[in-house]
Amino acid sequence: MKRNLLLTPGPTHVPPQLCAVLGKPIIHHRTPQFQAYLKEAMEGLQFILQTKAEVYLMAASGTGAMEASVSSLLSEGDHVITVESGKFGERWTNLCKAFKAVPTVISIEWGKTVTAADVEKALKADPSIKAVYVTLCETSTGSAPDLKSIGAVVKKSNAVLVVDAVSGLAVVDLKMDEWGIDVVASGSHKGFMLPPGLAFVAVSEKAKKLMETSTAPKFYFDLRKYAKVASKPDTPFTPAIGIVIALTESIRMIKEVGLEKLFAHFTRLANGVRAGAKGLGLELYTHESALSNVLTAIKVPDGIDGGKIVKIMRDTYGISVAGGQGDVKGKIIRIAHMGALDEYDILTGLSCLEKVLKELGYKFELGSGVAAAQKYFNQTA
Ligand SMILES: Cc1ncc(COP(=O)(O)O)c(C=O)c1O
Repeated sequence: MKRNLLLTPGPTHVPPQLCAVLGKPIIHHRTPQFQAYLKEAMEGLQFILQTKAEVYLMAASGTGAMEASVSSLLSEGDHVITVESGKFGERWTNLCKAFKAVPTVISIEWGKTVTAADVEKALKADPSIKAVYVTLCETSTGSAPDLKSIGAVVKKSNAVLVVDAVSGLAVVDLKMDEWGIDVVASGSHKGFMLPPGLAFVAVSEKAKKLMETSTAPKFYFDLRKYAKVASKPDTPFTPAIGIVIALTESIRMIKEVGLEKLFAHFTRLANGVRAGAKGLGLELYTHESALSNVLTAIKVPDGIDGGKIVKIMRDTYGISVAGGQGDVKGKIIRIAHMGALDEYDILTGLSCLEKVLKELGYKFELGSGVAAAQKYFNQTA
């Protein structure tokens, strides 16, 4: 039987402990039993986000949380800043335009990332900016901005800072309160090791004021509806019951490890992948100063189609990595190191990559990528 190893930047591998919880019979959501789970899930997310802000849970994919963070905060004609350094930054711009906000787009070359100085300049150029939309990990390129310094800049303005943390949450650090982040949008199917279907948005007091005045059209994603019942705790619509319950178990697993150790674990896996790529003589796609520990984007050798690498790894050997999007389609592959993965999953992925690269005619010494990663892992055990 073929394995199904997900080294994709979402959805991620669902470990057996969580599959067991997901396999339990459904319970009704307007009950004290479910309320206890909901309370634990909301408090658990506050722990991960390192915040006192309320967290609202909804049945949706990550983009639902992003949409809620636009339609619930803004009104037609509002000026906002969006950062585009890849596909998901572009989604912020498209969402803002869909709700008739007026974005100033900070456009960054793919593989690089925005700086606090870039954001400060754009904020100074337009003091009417209501919100700044950025991405914790730009999954299409494997880049990450310094959110702490961006938070310090936005905090000094009237704008709120909104972060798409769909791929990075519970993989890399995000100190919502300390860094001055007002809104975080994320979901269940990446760092939390769960299936897709549960989205959530955390909202600061500063952002709640915007919510009160927002007139953009909305219904399901109207965060005021979620805020109204959050303290009970309750949700305005049927929640993703099974995933909420499994989220409590996922957060228990994360707490058992501890945040600091968890982030160090993913840093180590990221470094292992990078060492493996370099051992194979391959170049990283992402600029050194912008590397995210959520996933690694690797340039494929000249003359080889990255799409073929992905297809053969998945269809022949049962190991899924992601290909490139947009202009880098076929030119890069992306290997994620998030969720329930360890160094042996990474070594397995690298050995499969080697096998496929050999099949496609790339010239290198078999085992050189695995050896380089193994060496790094042994040095940092
Ligand atoms: C950074 C980022 N934002 C948003 C999304 C969109 O999430 P979804 O596909 O769950 O709607 C993704 C999905 O890969 C992502 O990586």
